[in-house]
Amino acid sequence: ESTEKTVDERLLKVCQLLEENISYYNWVGFYFKNGDKEELKLGPYVGAPTDHTIIPFGKGICGQVAVSNENFVVPDVSAQDNYIACSITVKAEIVIPIFVNGQNIGQIDIDSNTPDPFTDKDERFLEFVCAKVASIL
Ligand code: SME
Repeated sequence: ESTEKTVDERLLKVCQLLEENISYYNWVGFYFKNGDKEELKLGPYVGAPTDHTIIPFGKGICGQVAVSNENFVVPDVSAQDNYIACSITVKAEIVIPIFVNGQNIGQIDIDSNTPDPFTDKDERFLEFVCAKVASIL
């Protein structure tokens, strides 16, 4: 029997490490393009369970990143009109796309209960994390 970790186990570990070590990362999860469909499917995550296991492209912060291929930093979720609320405790969100062979295949999504907590440092760090994640998919 193999003791190799599966990809999902590794992704869950990434979520756990981020949530445990960065105080203002309160929900950390991955969404991936769902096969050939124009939608995202929830992957491994830590934090409060969410009803939003499928997100159509274009919908919410995550769905917008699926089509823009760009980082999306939201300092105040209440100021967004195209936003899907998962928990009333969330104040801010950051979504960073994951590229494999130049294709946007998914993203890391982080919610914070702290207002306006994300800086350029978070973007650079999470881009690095996403590049590492891309290399194990
Ligand atoms: N807030 C996200 C939905 C995912 S939950 O944060 C886990 C959005 O607007 O796309």
